[in-house]
Formats: sequence, structure tokens, C-alpha cells
Amino acid sequence: MFKILRKEEWSPNVYAMDIEAPRVAKKAQAGQFIVLRVNEEGERIPLTIADFDRETGRILIVFQAIGASTMELAALEAGDSILDFVGPLGRPSEIAKLDGTMVVVGGGIGVAPTYPIARAMKEAGNKVIAIMGAKTKDILIMEDEMKAVTDEVLVTTDDGSYGIKGFVTNAVQALVDRGEKIAQITAIGPVIMMKSVADATRDLGIHTVVSLNPIMVDGTGMCGGCRVTIGDETKFACVDGPEFDGHLVDFKGLMSRQRMYRDKEAVEKDHVCH
Ligand code: FES
Repeated sequence: MFKILRKEEWSPNVYAMDIEAPRVAKKAQAGQFIVLRVNEEGERIPLTIADFDRETGRILIVFQAIGASTMELAALEAGDSILDFVGPLGRPSEIAKLDGTMVVVGGGIGVAPTYPIARAMKEAGNKVIAIMGAKTKDILIMEDEMKAVTDEVLVTTDDGSYGIKGFVTNAVQALVDRGEKIAQITAIGPVIMMKSVADATRDLGIHTVVSLNPIMVDGTGMCGGCRVTIGDETKFACVDGPEFDGHLVDFKGLMSRQRMYRDKEAVEKDHVCH
């Protein structure tokens, strides 16, 4: 069993939990994920690691309670335990000294997994800029944490309630317009956002990495549930990813698989709520 050390609601339906998982924390690296199961009957939930502390054995997860299983997780409190917490899974982010600026782009709760990447890239000697997108100011997360590990933070809100009015792609364009020499962008968030970033950077020739979080079952490359098309190859997000070259991802295929899953999830949620 894995103990929940801390639980906070960061914005409506968005929760942060510190989980006591020393063996996972010891090996965790930026870009990797875990798969958890609340109880015997629970579905496996894959979540990208938002932070880890090897000393205290703590892993930070951030999730949105939108489906049956995440709602069950959100119902737990500090002091409760969860049954399984497997990881770290997937390949870590490539951390290197770049010839230019590193930009992390996080949308919604996708901001959380960009945090350890930003920190690791900063520690590798890079200039790091974070672009954080949220619908409105009150659902923006981890701004102070991000400021502490980057050179600059640009916030965008859809409604202009804070920072730049518009989308994360507007902030990317603003950096390009001011002559920022961007060597790499790593974008994590809703699939549609990652697609927009990849579309915007393709012609600009900026290397763009995205972190995919498709349906995962075993998380070990055995079930095929997480398959994605990258260029003309089929890859498994859980073992070959979760990070891929954003310019090669078949986002259309990924979105249609997600739609199929959402319909199934709606039925499950209904089941839990009644
Ligand atoms: Fe089963 Fe990736 S989750 S193969």
C-alpha cells in the first residue's frame, strides 16, 4: 500500500497528492510516469510524475477528477492509502545542454509534468522559459514553483484574466517575434494544444517534443492499448514514449481513439455516480 502524505485541491476538480513511494522516487526522472490503482476493482490510472524527492521518497501527482477512476482517487484523503503505484515507467526526457533556449509549454494540468523537465534542463545549464496556459487565472497551477526553476515565465489565459490573452501558441509566437533563439520546445497538455504547438513550430523549424498520455492498461508494452502512430511507425507510448517528436505524431488518430475512450468512460462515471 502507498500512503497519501498530502492532498490539496489546486483548482476546481484538480488535485495534487504527495504519495509515499520511496522506491519509485529513488529512480524517477523527468518525463516518466506512474500507473496507479486505487483498489482491487479500480482501473489503472497513468499519470506523469509532477515532482519527486529522492530524500523523502515522495512523488507528486496532479490530476483532474473527470472520470470514474480519478473521482475515486479524489475521494481519498491524506493518511489514506492506494493499492498499487507502479513506476517509474517510460523513457525519461532527454536532458542536455542545448544550443539555444529551452521552452516548456504546459496547458492546464499539463503544466505539472513540465516542471521537472524545466528544472532538469535548467540544472543542465540551459536558459529555460516556461509558457503556462490556462482557461482562466484561478485554474493556473504551479506558477511560483515554475518561476523558481526557470529564467522567465509567460502565462496565457483564454479570457485574458491574467498574463497574455490567448493561447500558448501566441506566447510561442511572441518569443519568436522578439528574436528568442529557441532550440527546443517540450509541450504537454491537451492533445489539441500539443497539436497546435507542433503545427505552429513545424514551419519555424523548432524541434518540438510532446508527451502523450493515451489509454494505458499495463504500462509495460504488453497490451497495445497505448499504441500511437509516429511517422509511419506504430509505437507504444508506455515504453517507447511518452515523449515523441511532435512533428511526427498522428494527432488525428490519437484524438479519435480518445473519443472512443471518453464514450466508454462516460458510462463508467454514470455507474459510479449513481
Ligand atoms: Fe499496454 Fe502500453 S499500456 S502496451
